[in-house]
This record gives sequence, C-alpha cells and structure tokens, in this order.
Amino acid sequence: MERTFVMVKPDGVQRGFIGEIVSRIERKGLKIVGMKMLSIDEGVAERHYAEHREKPFFRSLVDYITSGPVVAMVVEGRDAVSVVRRLVGKTDPAEADPGTIRGDLAMDIGRNVVHASDSHESAKREIGIFFSRDEIIDYRKFDEGWVYEQ
Ligand code: RTP
Ligand code: MG
Repeated sequence: MERTFVMVKPDGVQRGFIGEIVSRIERKGLKIVGMKMLSIDEGVAERHYAEHREKPFFRSLVDYITSGPVVAMVVEGRDAVSVVRRLVGKTDPAEADPGTIRGDLAMDIGRNVVHASDSHESAKREIGIFFSRDEIIDYRKFDEGWVYEQ
C-alpha cells in the first residue's frame, strides 16, 4: 500500500467542499489515515511548494495557500499517488476532465481547490512537513476485502 498527501485548499474550505472532496476519496475505496484542519504559515507554504520557488506564480501561490484554513490528509491505498492525481484532475481546472474534482468544482488555475502529491518522493516529503508519526493511524478497515480482490 502507498500513502499520499492531499489537501483541501483555502478556496475548497471557503466554498464548502471539505465533505465533497473527502467523500470522493472515500467512495473510491481509498483509506484516510490522517486528517486535520490547520492554517499554513508562510514558512511552511514555502517549504511545501519549494519546487516552484523560481516560478513567476510562486508569490501568489504562497499568498493563496496561506489565505485561510486548509484540511490536510494522508490517504492510503494501492498506487494511491497516481490514483488520487487522476481523481483530482489537471492543474488547470478549465482543462481538467469532467468527473475529476477540479473538472467539476473549479474554474481557475490559481483557485483549484485541492492539492495532491505528484510522486512517491513528494508524498513522503509532504507528509513529513504536515504530520508527525503519531498523527498517522495504522488501522484495518472492514471493507478492504471488498475494495481489493487480494
Ligand atoms: P498542486 O501541487 O497544488 O497539487 O498542483 P499541481 O501539482 O497540479 O500543479 P503544480 O505544477 O505543482 O503547481 C502548484 C500550484 O501552483 C499554481 N499554479 N499556477 N499560474 C500558473 O501558471 C500556475 N501554475 C501552477 C496552481 O494553484 C497549482 O496547483
Ligand atoms: Mg504539485
């Protein structure tokens, strides 16, 4: 099983999409093993999006992600990183396929409601920024035999 980091961004929280986004993740058969609401400060935002430090949109991205509370999650499942990226859809919601979270719920690349790790390495790094070991819960979910054949 693989773990990935997912976050309902400030616009997702403000627009009342916490439940919608969590629900889509649960309905897929993924398991939430960590979850909390928090406000991201500038330092954490810059660390989280360090790969974009030199990009022209970096400042506005940091402003966006620190503009209100977010809901951070650790999500577990088979190939969780790529499966969740597909659920989330393309970065630009105008290009994202209908049926994806961004395709259904957003309009603007600078207001794309949700974040998801783009690789196994990013997931490890991002989970480490937002969650301590004791905030991630190892538990058995009763439906696992119905979600996976084996
Ligand atoms: P995220 O990291 O937030 O899950 O988004 P992503 O992988 O789909 O896209 P990424 O390339 O990592 O970009 C991070 C966030 O920066 C904003 N962005 N703006 N104006 C632009 O050209 C531009 N490009 C990216 C988006 O909010 C994107 O989610
Ligand atoms: Mg990204």
